[in-house]
Amino acid sequence: MTHGQMRQIEGLVDARLVLKLEWFNPAGSIKWKTAQSILDAAEREGRLHPGARLIESSSGNLGIALAALSAERGYRFTCVVDPHAARQSVATIRAYGAEIHEVTERDAHGGYLGTRIAHIRELVARDPDLIWTNQYANPANPAAHYDHTGPEIVAAIGDVDCVVIGAGTTGTLMGCLRYFRDHHPKVQVLAVDSLGSLTFSGSAGPRHIPGLGTSRRPEIFRAEELGDAILISETAAVHLCHWLARCHGLLAGGSTGSVLAAIAAFPEIFPAGRTVVAISPDSGEKYLDTVYNAAWVADRFGLSAEDLACDPREVLPQKVAAE
Ligand SMILES: Cc1ncc(COP(=O)(O)O)c(C=O)c1O
Repeated sequence: MTHGQMRQIEGLVDARLVLKLEWFNPAGSIKWKTAQSILDAAEREGRLHPGARLIESSSGNLGIALAALSAERGYRFTCVVDPHAARQSVATIRAYGAEIHEVTERDAHGGYLGTRIAHIRELVARDPDLIWTNQYANPANPAAHYDHTGPEIVAAIGDVDCVVIGAGTTGTLMGCLRYFRDHHPKVQVLAVDSLGSLTFSGSAGPRHIPGLGTSRRPEIFRAEELGDAILISETAAVHLCHWLARCHGLLAGGSTGSVLAAIAAFPEIFPAGRTVVAISPDSGEKYLDTVYNAAWVADRFGLSAEDLACDPREVLPQKVAAE
């Protein structure tokens, strides 16, 4: 397991801010570790024979990682996606020889997760040999981050005061919360989710960026273990993605923008003298026709090129305070 790439980001807060670029894992995202952990656990438990057929619901990255690993290990894989999945992710999953099922009906909360899961339950009920890896409930998901992501941060940076993590399935978050609680309890683990997500609480709202947020609380999430959490708008996330690309030459995925926007919105939590690690789950190439497309951004968020060129340090704290 590599330590991934670490990049110091100047100009957002006074603290030393280091971005952990998980894009350098095989298959291009943090989900490589999750997929490996899930398949390793199932193999250890004797649940996977050669040619086994797997199914999973994914917004893209876990699907890509499972498709690649299934090709390598000799399994057949079906990925259930929805219209928010990046087209490039779907094409990548297909290229690894996996099958795609796309659900198009929204669930009761206006998202697609409920529909994707209902579709899998229906298929598994009809076909008992089909194995659902179930990243939302599988303890091997947080275990990947307890065993790897948490220790990688400490190995690469040493003394860390705060780690900022976005929540999708909450695998990264729960694994790191437990790792730091058990081994470095002084480290603050700060969770970030998108406004409109139901994971921490709150009310459902429209979301357009894959990665963070759910329309159904994942089983692996434990509210009692959560410390501090920030909900951030996708508008702010897009703004920070553009700032990172233009001012630092880093093209990151939308969930990286959410994590940076949460940091920019509360500069008082990140004063000089603190060392903060923020996790960047994937890169931006998959999002060139969404997050990095001027027409898409103007249509979904009402942001113009002029808005995107503003310094987020000047815009965000006031905006959040006013909301
Ligand atoms: C781009 C991106 N960011 C963040 C996450 C959230 O990670 P986790 O599922 O570990 O909460 C995901 C998960 O799919 C993702 O694909």
